Amino acid sequence: MYPKKVKIIEVGPRDGLQNEKGQIALADKVALVENLADAGLNIVESGSFVSPKWVPQMADSSEVFAAISRKAGVTYSALTPNLKGFEAALAAKADEVAIFGAASESFTQKNINCSISESLERFAPVMQAAQANNIPVRGYVSCVLGCPYEGEISADKVAEVSDRLLQMGCYEISLGDTIGVGTPVKTAHMLDTVSRMVPKTQLAVHFHDTYGQALANILIALQQGISVVDSAVAGIGGCPYAKGASGNVATEDVVYMLQGMGIETGIDLNKLIQAGEQITAKLGRSTNSKVAKALSE
Ligand code: HMG
Ligand code: MG
Repeated sequence: MYPKKVKIIEVGPRDGLQNEKGQIALADKVALVENLADAGLNIVESGSFVSPKWVPQMADSSEVFAAISRKAGVTYSALTPNLKGFEAALAAKADEVAIFGAASESFTQKNINCSISESLERFAPVMQAAQANNIPVRGYVSCVLGCPYEGEISADKVAEVSDRLLQMGCYEISLGDTIGVGTPVKTAHMLDTVSRMVPKTQLAVHFHDTYGQALANILIALQQGISVVDSAVAGIGGCPYAKGASGNVATEDVVYMLQGMGIETGIDLNKLIQAGEQITAKLGRSTNSKVAKALSE
């Protein structure tokens, strides 16, 4: 019923940090990526090649990629909204990139300054360049369970955008509950609808935990046979273009739940908690991970 193994995509260094207002030192970003890889995470989204005017915190992603000591077997990935971003990611030797669209017109406008159909047009040259350079591309769809500007989003729209990204050549589609409004039955319906277009083996889930629903929704995804989960250490994060979006579900909490279910992750929970403690100390705040809190007391 549940997958035997789950792949966790650690998005803390990107989704976790992108919305931080105070400048985080390059060395702290580098340490975070390295600590996560040491804890056994083998896909770490380490930065974002977007406009520095739009997301200033990610302006030093090239430096992050240049400074990290890479661990064999670990994929260091980055967001690339357009060809300019892809070229920078390639120069930085990102192992993998992600294009990011949404199931909401208004959110797409606010986030990447174009319509959904224009976004797909902009992604086409990224896909071509990635294919020419043998770089795998992941596709994100935001607002899959609600939009900060439009409210309800239809599951059919999520399925349509997901299918377009898949047809363009993304190897996996990550379904983002950007503002964390989803609840389990709604999540089940959305996943049922999307999986009519995109095979479950090519789906991932990406929950923000704004309303405390993320683990319940992840359980639904696992029950449906989805075995790829995005999360951020210490539950850091949020999207600058989604007001009220709190952090991603905490990786520690996901790992604890999976371990309790006998599902393999390959992650050392203690090292992961230490990675979380180190970055939250630098950010000057306490962890959003209940597991990290419970185990550090
Ligand atoms: P634009 O203004 O429409 O782009 O922005 P443009 O092509 O007209 O360029 C404007 C300026 O940006 C130019 O510079 C370009 O060179 C520069 P200027 O001439 O004014 O000096 N520029 C770039 N610079 C660096 N790297 C680039 C780049 N592209 C253009 N790649 C653009 C369009 C997409 C660039 C902008 O809207 C943008 O950067 N948006 C990023 C938004 C973002 O990063 N949001 C957060 C990530 S998404 C998310 O968090 C959700 C997710 O986690 C899933 C979920 O939770 O749902 C993934
Ligand atoms: Mg996100």
